[in-house]
Amino acid sequence: MSKFPSDKPVLVTCGLPYANGKAHVGHLRTYIPADIFTRSLRKTGQEVTFVCGSDTHGTPIVFNAEELNTTPKELIKIYHKHFDETFKQMGVMFDAFGTTDDQTNHDRTTDIVNKLIENDYVFPKTIEIAYCPSCDRFLPDRYVKGTCPHCKEEARGDECDQGCGKHLEPGELESPTCTTCNGPAEYRKQEHFFFKLSEFKDFLIEHLENLGGTLNARNYALGWVKQELTDWCITRNLDWGVRFPGHDDLVVYVWVDAPIGYIAFTEEWAEANNESWEKFWKEDSRIVHFIGGDIIYHHCIFWPAMLKGAGYSQPWSVVASGMVKIEDKTFSKSRGYVVWVGEDYLDHGFHPDLLRYYLASYTSHTKELNFSWEVFQDKINTELVGVFGNFLYRTLLFTHKNFKEIPAGEIKQETLDEINSTIEAANEAMENYEFKKYADAAMALASYGNSYFQSNEPWKLIKEDKDACGEVVANCIQLAKALCLLFEPILPEKMEDAWKQIGMSTDVHEAGYAEATELVNAGTPLEKPSILFEKIEDEKTEQMEAIASARVKEAIAKQSGKEEKEEPKEMKELITFDDFSKLDMRIGTIVSAEEIKKSKKLLKLQVDLGEEETRQIVAGIKESHSPEELPGRQVLVLANLAPAKLCGVESNGMVLAGTDEDGKAILLQPEKGTGAGNSIM
Ligand code: MSP
Ligand code: ZN
Repeated sequence: MSKFPSDKPVLVTCGLPYANGKAHVGHLRTYIPADIFTRSLRKTGQEVTFVCGSDTHGTPIVFNAEELNTTPKELIKIYHKHFDETFKQMGVMFDAFGTTDDQTNHDRTTDIVNKLIENDYVFPKTIEIAYCPSCDRFLPDRYVKGTCPHCKEEARGDECDQGCGKHLEPGELESPTCTTCNGPAEYRKQEHFFFKLSEFKDFLIEHLENLGGTLNARNYALGWVKQELTDWCITRNLDWGVRFPGHDDLVVYVWVDAPIGYIAFTEEWAEANNESWEKFWKEDSRIVHFIGGDIIYHHCIFWPAMLKGAGYSQPWSVVASGMVKIEDKTFSKSRGYVVWVGEDYLDHGFHPDLLRYYLASYTSHTKELNFSWEVFQDKINTELVGVFGNFLYRTLLFTHKNFKEIPAGEIKQETLDEINSTIEAANEAMENYEFKKYADAAMALASYGNSYFQSNEPWKLIKEDKDACGEVVANCIQLAKALCLLFEPILPEKMEDAWKQIGMSTDVHEAGYAEATELVNAGTPLEKPSILFEKIEDEKTEQMEAIASARVKEAIAKQSGKEEKEEPKEMKELITFDDFSKLDMRIGTIVSAEEIKKSKKLLKLQVDLGEEETRQIVAGIKESHSPEELPGRQVLVLANLAPAKLCGVESNGMVLAGTDEDGKAILLQPEKGTGAGNSIM
């Protein structure tokens, strides 16, 4: 049974772009599939409202504005306009595109926070907040960096962005440093407000078990909820944002007012169209959130709990894409691993629809997508040019040359069956958010068209039996019509063109799938066709690849330069002789060494420690040493380090090494050969 069209009103939203940087191809993996989904639902006859807006609050924006010597208001204006224009260029057509700084959102946020307070879900608590004595201010989120308490990677104040990806609460970060002056920060006590997230555990488990969308969103979130839910600090010391009611020195955390934007933008749409926003947010509805896999926690945990606590309707589905990467690194504008939509794509003259096709059909939606110009070229050339474009052009060129109009001829049941079964498969794919399957189903119909044309040999028939030839051609045009409708969600602008070329005078965006089997009108005059998709030349791909790899190289160089600067060698805390004597350090002789296949860095060593004891030790020296050169060598070993498993291999001790200028390991060894097992003192 198909889910659409349904009587319940459908609202589609997209993760709001932060208005502090340009649009990149990673962003588009949220917006383009959501746009495809919306267009496709409309083709089934489903009414859909599609809203989005800029996320304009939070410390990164204040931070960037400060760095650029401007105000947050000015900064967000520029990027709001940029995103609005980029979306229009890419054919992503929102019914409303507001900003979270709109009065509507300030009002809706205040209202929701007040409801949460009234319903006793908010409580004050004095906590430790990072404070920079030299800048003389509290340091929310991005203003502080330090060590993640969970995985010990370098992290930002509110998220471990380079390590485990966990959301961090104020005060959790270890060794805080001020990001403005790079000086050490300290923790000071301050009163903040918390949302009682922990009270929503049972609700969330039930909510998530019934949540639609992609399984990654649901399953990750369920895992987190079942582990632990800590109450959530929802205020920050900032001027920029939505005021926390009754406290002039506090604003709400950006992840409170950002998703509330979804409601505010619906209100703005309703206001402009004389419609109701409550039908989505207060009644039984289907709210579908499209996001990237990086913000599942916020959408599947914080957000439904907030909605529930304030008495609003719940999301029906969360559709989370896999992350877009380049050379296996997640896009990051601050780090420079990125393919920009403007300067790296549109400005090079590529048509927006090609990127839409690539993103939709590359791989399943929840999988990672490693951006590749080579794959882009291949998909465009073999599929859009070679199959779909070829079918349309040869059909229309042949028709124009021989008939100048759509010829009369019976549309065969077989043709209609093929169209119907394709639409059915495509719709089923769309309902499961399988955009690749949808695109593949449509492409398979184009392939069918090519074989049909080829096997009926109309170029021969035209000489022998013009009527029979006309019938073949009419069937091809019927298939072309269905293809225009099927591809419109993915290739909206190109299909406008194709729709005209097959003689249709209506609006292809308004037309539904049901029209695919409405018979084409014999006698409709056809213009000389034009080619829809052009081959991408190898030189172009090479040029684009060079740009992308230069960007990644530059980013890596910049980052390693930065790391060196940021980490001066520090004196560690003093220890006593007693502390030192706890270390059991011995001289060992390497007996054998072998590769650990799964690891780039690790070798597995057997080390003779005297007294007939041979230890297995895993050492991070694969990049600097080959296994053959090691047996017989003497090394220094920390023998009483607790056992650990590295890459699944047990290690009982540590081989001591230093590093050379390039950061490669150099093994420490005794001045002269000596007996294995001698201790070091
Ligand atoms: N402002 C937040 C979302 C708030 S929603 C209430 C945000 N902004 S963002 O600009 O970083 O990202 C906008 C959208 O693009 C989000 O859906 C995000 O998941 C998605 N992506 C951003 N970078 C991405 C990749 N590299 N890959 C895939 N999607 C990613 O997050
Ligand atoms: Zn400082």
